[in-house]
Amino acid sequence: MERNTATPAIRVAPPGPRSRKWIAYHRAAAARVTYVEGFVWDRAAPAIGPFCTDPDGNVFLDFASHVGTSLLGYNHPELLAVSERLKSIDPDRYAGTDFISAYGGEPERVEVPTPSHLHHKLLEITARYEFGTAFFSNSGAEAVENAIKICYDARRNCGYGFCFLGAFHGRTLGALSLNRSKRLHRSWYPQIPNIVHLPYCTCSQECHCGFWLGPIGSESRLAQFLDPVRGLVDPAEVAYIIIEPVQGEGGYHVPAAAFMTEIGRVARQYHIPLIADEVQSGMGRTGRWWASEHFDIQPDIIVTGKALRVGATVGRSELFPKEEMRLGSTWGEGNALSSAIGYTTIQVIQRDGLLAHATRMGEYLRQELQELQRQFDFIEDVRGLGLMDAIELDTVERRGRILRGCLERGLLLLGCGFKAIRFLPPLDVAQRELDLALEVLSEAFRLV
Ligand SMILES: Cc1ncc(COP(=O)(O)O)c(C=O)c1O
Repeated sequence: MERNTATPAIRVAPPGPRSRKWIAYHRAAAARVTYVEGFVWDRAAPAIGPFCTDPDGNVFLDFASHVGTSLLGYNHPELLAVSERLKSIDPDRYAGTDFISAYGGEPERVEVPTPSHLHHKLLEITARYEFGTAFFSNSGAEAVENAIKICYDARRNCGYGFCFLGAFHGRTLGALSLNRSKRLHRSWYPQIPNIVHLPYCTCSQECHCGFWLGPIGSESRLAQFLDPVRGLVDPAEVAYIIIEPVQGEGGYHVPAAAFMTEIGRVARQYHIPLIADEVQSGMGRTGRWWASEHFDIQPDIIVTGKALRVGATVGRSELFPKEEMRLGSTWGEGNALSSAIGYTTIQVIQRDGLLAHATRMGEYLRQELQELQRQFDFIEDVRGLGLMDAIELDTVERRGRILRGCLERGLLLLGCGFKAIRFLPPLDVAQRELDLALEVLSEAFRLV
């Protein structure tokens, strides 16, 4: 398969007979989760950049990128090369919070990047925040768990946490206590107490969400809550404020600049640690290393995962526990292959100028989506930053029909929020690939 000439090509309506076999086999023993109906990725079949193949030979243009985890698309040569070098070493996952691993001579000469190299690399791309410490885990949710544990530990006896409506932070018990996007994530599960939520403000002219008590820029509900005289919570009792600088699962909402400035201001005023959850928005997805960089905030901890291939909690050293055994897990710091891939991903983004590329391609994509919005009145909104973009539709039913229509024509997309569709192409997406996707999308629009 050649990336420059590949196109989506559907030979059998997905899921075809071979895909259906795999689906039935998998489902017979697997838990019910969140599968996308109709798409099966055949790992043994050709795939390159945003193109992949299913067991029936259908070629898909994948603009879901495994929910943002394959940041450089399928089979990027540099990532293949680094995994090739590690493939004859076992264990690939080792007890990394108990044993440190080296690779060859001197650590400064990066022969094959180890988790220790990835720590340093993460400090490099968070340099503007003056972070000094990183800790790895297996998932975004674990990285969130570790971030809030670090804050509870640093601010002993501070029981409160603040989160925002529409938030998604993961599905483990601690992380799900912070979710405010869908009831189903939390219902019937026990949760961390004293989590306060506030509106996530995306308002532009007037405030409709209630975060501001008057016009935008007036007193905020957060400031009111924490006011030392009239407030409801003593700021000294707050362990953290956690926020997605662009909301992911909740609907790809870009917050208002004034709202973010206010969150940063209040956090600073009361010395409350600010956690930026960049599991989905980080690693260059929005055209900057961190979506936080688009705003006037200074996070104390950044949480990331997905595109990095390991969960990571990076932050100011003084917040991290001083005692041993407060953090850790068997595979915590010890995922050799994923760390090497994460490190190389960062290197490729740096070398190929992919932050600027993502900014340009994102502007082009949104401009073309806005053009479609002028033609189809069921598109209520076009939004995003860099290559983290979405359209809002009028009904959830129409969204379902459009997603189905795209899949049947070889374009893989994902929903988010209640009736939005997200676009997550690889960071090195070519304009030709965006045009191919837009062609399929407008065809699907015409049919609904
Ligand atoms: C913003 C955000 N935080 C946390 C998570 C949880 O990450 P994981 O699914 O790797 O546990 C996600 C996953 O989608 C996310 O988007």
